[in-house]
Amino acid sequence: MKYRKLALAASLLGFAATALADDVLNRNMASACASCHGTNGHSVGGMDPLAGMPKDEMIRKMKDFRTDAKPATLMHQLAKGYTDQQVEMIANYYAAQK
Ligand code: HEC
Repeated sequence: MKYRKLALAASLLGFAATALADDVLNRNMASACASCHGTNGHSVGGMDPLAGMPKDEMIRKMKDFRTDAKPATLMHQLAKGYTDQQVEMIANYYAAQK
């Protein structure tokens, strides 16, 4: 009985650690956008803000940049450098920002 509770606690801890690691990974991936779009996506000087952008919208816009469906001066080049999985990580991060 005691061991079962211990095992449950250990697996819950493992789950929390995985979630935390994901957050850090997403943030690291998203930090590549900060130089232009501002810290955590809070832009200054009229740049498009990324903070709070819904996940679906971010994924769609990045795909549109890649296929040139969305006109761009440089994002079309940049978007091509990310895999779908990386875009999803970035989208998760910015969607979670206020
Ligand atoms: C070197 C500067 C630069 C970097 C780095 C950069 N962007 Fe951009 N971003 C732009 C510019 C400029 C635009 C406006 C479109 C264009 O001209 O390319 C833009 C537009 C966007 C838009 C469209 C915003 C809207 O609401 O229409 C999205 C989404 C976006 N960027 C996401 C990202 C993501 C995600 C990253 C990081 C992987 C990133 N950008 C990194 C310069 C940058």
